[in-house]
Amino acid sequence: MEEQLIQIKNDAMSLLLEADKEDIEQIYIDFLGKKGRLTLAMKDLPTLPIEKRTEVGKLANEIKNILEEQIDDKRASLKKTPASHTSSSANPHIDVTLPGNKPSVGSLHLVTQAIDEITTIFQTIGFTKVRYPEVEYDWYAFGALNFPEDHPARDDWETFFVDLPIDPKMGPVVLTPHTSSGQVREMLKGELPIKMLNIAKCYRRQSDVSHTSMFHQFEGLVVGKGVNISHLKGVLDFFFNSYLGEQRKWRIRPYHFQFTEPSFEVDVSCGICNGTGCKLCKEGWLELGGAGMVHPNVLRAGKIDPEEYTGFAFGWGVERVLMMKEGLQLDDLRILYSNNLDFLKQF
Ligand code: DAH
Repeated sequence: MEEQLIQIKNDAMSLLLEADKEDIEQIYIDFLGKKGRLTLAMKDLPTLPIEKRTEVGKLANEIKNILEEQIDDKRASLKKTPASHTSSSANPHIDVTLPGNKPSVGSLHLVTQAIDEITTIFQTIGFTKVRYPEVEYDWYAFGALNFPEDHPARDDWETFFVDLPIDPKMGPVVLTPHTSSGQVREMLKGELPIKMLNIAKCYRRQSDVSHTSMFHQFEGLVVGKGVNISHLKGVLDFFFNSYLGEQRKWRIRPYHFQFTEPSFEVDVSCGICNGTGCKLCKEGWLELGGAGMVHPNVLRAGKIDPEEYTGFAFGWGVERVLMMKEGLQLDDLRILYSNNLDFLKQF
């Protein structure tokens, strides 16, 4: 009897494998219907000796459940399956030789592409990419960088303050207004010489054609023995030639930053008007950011002896250099974050 039941199951399963919509109902009738093979076999159960009856009865029930389940699954999958090539050849409206629908493929955002390109340029000359917190203590963002307590960058007009308790040593918590806050964190790692590139999101209360309240900066920091301004100029020259091309001009002007001495502002000839002057630039030059030799107080905050080591740093906006790229003609930086797909899809 067991053998007979197993045979019934195997027969049903192999028929199910090949079955299409019409076959499936016939298989149900042939095996599970009133006069189906399994139903009839189960009717014979009472003729078995009592000690076998329970065991065989259990097997028969199991097979019945399996077949019911398989038939249901098959019904459901046949409902879902679209017309196969056999049925499509019967349907003259479907041309199976036509190319299929291409899945739509996105692309990296312009700013991500710029970050990748900038990173590769600096990695070529030995910089290591790092990332430090965006939500940062005032001490790393200002205090350790030689900013006096009353510096205007520290007040609410420039910086976003996070509503968290003020730490007695580190001060309030802010959204990093610049990537320079990574400088002292890098120094405190205690590994010299340093050649770091910190690229991160920064936040400031600003919005106009060349500023957004969230933007990206990249910060270079080099600390070692005998590091001087000519090294800084060499690195900047390598960057501008690689990123903007050798035909573009750049310059440094004396300036003041709290954390560098001497300090410079870095300008590049405007790529929108080709140096003739436009609404974006100042007489053909666009100011990118700052640079300078690391102030001895900053080295001290990073537990580095300024008598033994010197360093230079530079930092500016990813979006700003991106705007300056030849042929991009980006004259309003805010478009990068407006989620305008027509604009973004071009790149
Ligand atoms: N952190 C400055 C800013 O956001 C830019 C800057 C100036 C970075 C001088 C530097 C530097 O590394 O040396 O305005």
